[in-house]
Amino acid sequence: MLIAVVLLVPAVLVSLPWWLPRRVVALRERVFARINGDEGVPVPGELAGVERFRELYAHPAANGRSKGAALSDLFWYWLAPGPEMHQEHLEQGERYDAVARTTRALLAVPKGEVEELARRCAARGLEGVRGLVRLRDLMMPVWAEFAYELVFAERCPREARDLIAANADDVVTSLKCTGLRHMGRRERLTRYLLPRLDKVRVPLPGGLTPLEQAYYLQGAFFNTAVVQLSEAMAHLLLVLAQHPEEQERARTSDDRHFDRVINETLRLYPLFGIAHRITSGDIALDEHTTIPAGSVLCFNYPEFHRAGFADPGRFDPGRFDRPAKELNHVPFGVAANRPCPAWRLAPIAMRAVAREVLGRYVLDSSVTHTRSLPSRGPCLLTPRGAPYRPRLALTYLRVRDRWEDVWRSLVQLVLGTYMVWDAHRKRLCERHFAEAASNPPDASDAEDRYAAHPGHEPGARRSL
Ligand code: HEM
Repeated sequence: MLIAVVLLVPAVLVSLPWWLPRRVVALRERVFARINGDEGVPVPGELAGVERFRELYAHPAANGRSKGAALSDLFWYWLAPGPEMHQEHLEQGERYDAVARTTRALLAVPKGEVEELARRCAARGLEGVRGLVRLRDLMMPVWAEFAYELVFAERCPREARDLIAANADDVVTSLKCTGLRHMGRRERLTRYLLPRLDKVRVPLPGGLTPLEQAYYLQGAFFNTAVVQLSEAMAHLLLVLAQHPEEQERARTSDDRHFDRVINETLRLYPLFGIAHRITSGDIALDEHTTIPAGSVLCFNYPEFHRAGFADPGRFDPGRFDRPAKELNHVPFGVAANRPCPAWRLAPIAMRAVAREVLGRYVLDSSVTHTRSLPSRGPCLLTPRGAPYRPRLALTYLRVRDRWEDVWRSLVQLVLGTYMVWDAHRKRLCERHFAEAASNPPDASDAEDRYAAHPGHEPGARRSL
């Protein structure tokens, strides 16, 4: 008996990385579904398959963003402070139009200037870097500086870079449930932005209070832009680190091929798992089936991106020899329903930063590459021309990653359960709309406030 126990305990311990993380993730999903309730209509799903994904996403009645979905409480919790001013979560209307117009103005930068800005920020971020890194951490300060310069048209001070990176890291860490949210870190950035609103390169939406303007900027540019670009770059560099031939081809290829590599990366690892919409009217699917108003449609990106591709889990940029719009591929959303306003700028900037990295280093990695990438993308950077012996480091990385997975999956279970419960309890979204309903704003001057604000005169913009 004793011998059996003595043999069994080490066997169970040693085998943990091979079975525990998977089970903990499955348990976490069950716990989340239990607390959140299963309010959603999955698309693709039983009611509407892959072939109706685009049609449903683009349906005019699929236009509610936050109000009426319990899921929104969770997103608002993760995006706070000021989630009610986050462009992604604003309902349609004048306020949304004013904010979306400002975002478009800030992102309307000529291609050459985007490339030059991204290259400069990357060169600064890579100074003195070599050896083992986590790609997401490496990229955060680069995109923090990039976003700052996009917004303020001046070089990013170190203090601002650190505040922006700390804010973005806190958001993405809590989203992935590998850490709790720290509102102090996020509010420090809001306080930094408030006295600088008049320095923004384009006029801010006139109908907002200064605090609302700061929240809008923080949400779109110092949270979404930095998080999404850092995540996307971590995926891009990690996939190249694990496909040496593709890495070499990308390094020496033209922009068209590089775009195929980016497209295939975002097909395999779309940044959105699920995007949701609340229906404002009935949607008739056929004569027997109708999705009623008030339903929460959950568009599943990874599932859509896998459908219709041979061997969909394989990384193969050659799939994009055909135009991307002929394929099941919507990395930036659908054009008819609030797509990502950075759909043009993001790939240009990513290409410029990736070229800067590949020009300096050979990349290698042996870690597990999943869409949510809670490991932040461990990777070995060997300067080009330096002695190249990655084998030992890669073995170490593989073992460390497996064991980190065990610990991380347990942390995610505990912290994730806590945050889902806490968000459910705080009900930030539900309360916001309940308060708005009991204190409706004075609508009489809304048109003047948003449309005729002098800030929207074209001459008032500064270029980078
Ligand atoms: C590779 C990088 C990026 C990817 C893959 C990406 C992806 C997406 C997707 C899929 C959506 C639509 C989600 C939905 O339908 O609900 C979206 C929305 C949005 N994205 Fe991006 N994004 C990226 C970078 C950026 C950047 C750099 C910004 C900078 C401002 C940005 C700002 C936004 C905003 C404000 C929205 C909400 C749009 C609206 O509702 O009007 N994104 N993004």
